[in-house]
Amino acid sequence: MFVLVHAMIDPLGAIQIGAGLLATFPLIDHWWRMRRISRWRKLEPGNEKTDSPIVVVLPIWNEEKIIRLRLDNLAQQQYTGHWSLMIVDSASTDQGLQIIDTWLNENPNAFSNAPSIVRMPQRLGKTAAVNFALDHIDLESIVVLTDADVLISPDSLNRISRWFGSGSDIGAVSGTPYPISDPLTSAERNEETYRRFYIDQRIGESIIDSTPIFEGSLLAFRRDVIGNNRLDMTTNADDSQIAIMIRRSGLKSIFDSELIFHEYIPTDFVENNRRSIRRARGLQNLFWMNRDLWLSQKEDQFSRILRRQAWIHLISPVLVMISLVAMFAHIGLTMFRIQNGISMPLADIVLAFVSSFSIVVFLMGDWIPFGRTLQAYLRGQSILMHVYLDRIIRRNAAIWEPTQSNRDALLESSKKKKGSDL
Ligand code: GDD
Ligand code: MN
Repeated sequence: MFVLVHAMIDPLGAIQIGAGLLATFPLIDHWWRMRRISRWRKLEPGNEKTDSPIVVVLPIWNEEKIIRLRLDNLAQQQYTGHWSLMIVDSASTDQGLQIIDTWLNENPNAFSNAPSIVRMPQRLGKTAAVNFALDHIDLESIVVLTDADVLISPDSLNRISRWFGSGSDIGAVSGTPYPISDPLTSAERNEETYRRFYIDQRIGESIIDSTPIFEGSLLAFRRDVIGNNRLDMTTNADDSQIAIMIRRSGLKSIFDSELIFHEYIPTDFVENNRRSIRRARGLQNLFWMNRDLWLSQKEDQFSRILRRQAWIHLISPVLVMISLVAMFAHIGLTMFRIQNGISMPLADIVLAFVSSFSIVVFLMGDWIPFGRTLQAYLRGQSILMHVYLDRIIRRNAAIWEPTQSNRDALLESSKKKKGSDL
């Protein structure tokens, strides 16, 4: 087989095709199957709510800009069961805590239980803040994690509560992002394409077993399953760490496509990229740390899912890089041969032509449907390749500079809404 291909096509072309297929096939195959499953079945919570108290944890660091907005939003929950809010502050240096105090004084009846505020003496990152919160929450509780910069619907706690009713084998539930963005810019259209690709996989994985990838902006889990275990603070994927921890205990970790949170995508290109790189790095670490599961002989669906995701996040980006370098070299070589009248197999001409054509499709991405998918795919891969670089430049990714352009957009839109209400 190899000899045959070799005789037909230049080795550069063979490398381009081989590495390209090994990089893309596992992802497309997985997505395709998960998408089919997600359309064929649906996960729904039971009607019975849990009796366990719910503790909503809101970790904050320097959120003075949007914290009022977020408290307004949380106060709208219609849940009648027992729940309380716990704010975890890690030595914020802004006016955030004073603003919270004022807000609570102005709205004394906003929550049926008085919110608690726990303070960490220093900033150690969000994952550390989640660990700190766990120290203060009773074992029988359901813990909900949510971020300052997202908005959730008044029904969210009701829906979460239904996932944990008696007899349920669900240990953790993740919300689904609903990005709000300006549909006029290409970066955001790509985000939307990527989103469909991403959510289809999460839902399918949840149906066949569990998804290893969670969203820290809105998730819920059973506190007792974590027990005295804590998250690894040196990495930032607190959300997905929880998903895998819960699944390891034998309960399911699922994505709920109807438990939606609204978030703004950073409009600043640099900020958005930095955020994506950080999150991808957290996932890479996580898949590596849990390699015992994907290498295990015990063949269950979850090992298979983890193995696939490990391939997609750790190995594919390297293969894509190799494939792209080979592609450019092969196009160059073919052009050189044509110019100098050197004969070559037809396969080389076809490959170079198709590759050049794909480059055009990629560059025109915005105007053709497939181009957009191609752009979104390559953006994802370039983010993952950047992670390897990021590891060299930045030793610690557990503490980050929060993106501001999404917070500004959130603030701006809420002002507009208020204005139109008057
Ligand atoms: N207490 C505390 N201490 N809170 C923090 C710290 C910290 O050191 N760092 C960040 N936070 C809070 C923020 O105030 C916000 O409420 C939440 O954690 C998420 O921070 P963002 O800055 O908005 O994170 P993101 O949206 O870019 O990050 C996404 O990926 C993370 C994993 O990399 C979200 O999905 C996060 O939930 C997730 O943890
Ligand atoms: Mn955020």
